[in-house]
Amino acid sequence: MGKAWEYRNNLLYLEDVALDEVAERVGTPCYVYSSQAILSRYEAYDRSFGEVPHRICYAVKANSNLSVLGLLAKVGAGFDIVSGGELFRALRAGANPASIVFSGVGKTREEIEYALESGIHAFHCESEPELALIESLAARLNKQARVALRVNPDVDASTHPYISTGLKEHKFGIDIGEVEGVYDRARSLRHVRLEGVSCHIGSQLLNVDPLLESMDRMLALVERLRAAGLPIQSLDLGGGVGVPYQPGDPEPSIEEFIEKISQKAKGRNLMLMVEPGRSLVAEAGVLLSRVLYRKRNGAKDFIIVDAAMNDLIRPSLYQAHHEIIPVRRDERRGAVVADVVGPVCESGDFLARNRHLANVLPGDLVAICTAGAYGFVLSSNYNSRPRAAEVLVAGAQYKIARQRESYEDLIRGEQ
Ligand code: LLP
Repeated sequence: MGKAWEYRNNLLYLEDVALDEVAERVGTPCYVYSSQAILSRYEAYDRSFGEVPHRICYAVKANSNLSVLGLLAKVGAGFDIVSGGELFRALRAGANPASIVFSGVGKTREEIEYALESGIHAFHCESEPELALIESLAARLNKQARVALRVNPDVDASTHPYISTGLKEHKFGIDIGEVEGVYDRARSLRHVRLEGVSCHIGSQLLNVDPLLESMDRMLALVERLRAAGLPIQSLDLGGGVGVPYQPGDPEPSIEEFIEKISQKAKGRNLMLMVEPGRSLVAEAGVLLSRVLYRKRNGAKDFIIVDAAMNDLIRPSLYQAHHEIIPVRRDERRGAVVADVVGPVCESGDFLARNRHLANVLPGDLVAICTAGAYGFVLSSNYNSRPRAAEVLVAGAQYKIARQRESYEDLIRGEQ
């Protein structure tokens, strides 16, 4: 689908907004997202299902800004949440509760009650004790809880170990070899309606074959459950495709992936669901930062910028690669090989290591690319750094989607 940002006359733009102007007005560090990029990806998912009944539940964890959620709620997206906080955000953003699914291995009593009272579509239940708790809370509230068990299909996603979830060794889901027994025992529950199956084998998959393999196993499971008399209506395949972060990365096509899974689901009288996060928002966003200093320690060049690991932790946590490009491009400047680091007092605070990039100088603005997913949401106040502002662009307009935190915000609630 391509990146949302582009140079026009050597100046970086998101849609029709020049990013130097955003940085001047809003300050740095600052996340900027393109609404058009998000919506066009959502539409690519939606369109590619064709006639197959489906629901796209955006994984709120990827970027939970209210304005981003609102954008997706308006076009009819569903939402995949993993906490009471995400439920609160989705509802505030105008989500239809009946389009929300609740995933996660550690739902609390309060969160389950909140979800039951809100009338969410379904719980993706990850264990028998959780199922028992949902049953008892639903009984007390006199409600019927719709549930899909989260199955662990034992497929290797071949992605970073921290974001791979579909193997027996992982904490997620119920082993595919044991899940039929759980469905069977759950038949006696009076306040739980077991209507679906769900799975999620991992994130940032650049090859969709493991997802297709997982779908085959899940379809076979659906057939077995139906043969045993269970009224299974939906199959949720979990997250979406991965995205290219650096030149040369494969670029999985949303359309091809959805067409392939729709083909498999055709004629089965099954509602097909997916929970894409990254592929809707990652390439829609950049993190703007200003170069503070240059310095050299021994043989090493450092570019010190005003964004740090507290703003974008992916490089430190997952050794993730994010391209770093100048907002104002000047070919005469040449290139350098340097570490791009932030002000946080840790050697693990880096945005790029030994990176070949434009020879940017103090005062210059840079864009840390492909930062729309798992960027701001994973940010923290470490080193008492106020969290960055977020901006949403639409055409030639932009608005502040989240104000930069103030020092007062830092101590809110403290004595
Ligand atoms: N559904 C479930 C149940 C999930 O656990 C996840 C992601 C998704 C959907 C969305 O997957 P996506 O479409 O975004 O691949 N912080 C890590 C990513 C963690 C993903 C966790 N689960 C990162 O920055 O790479």
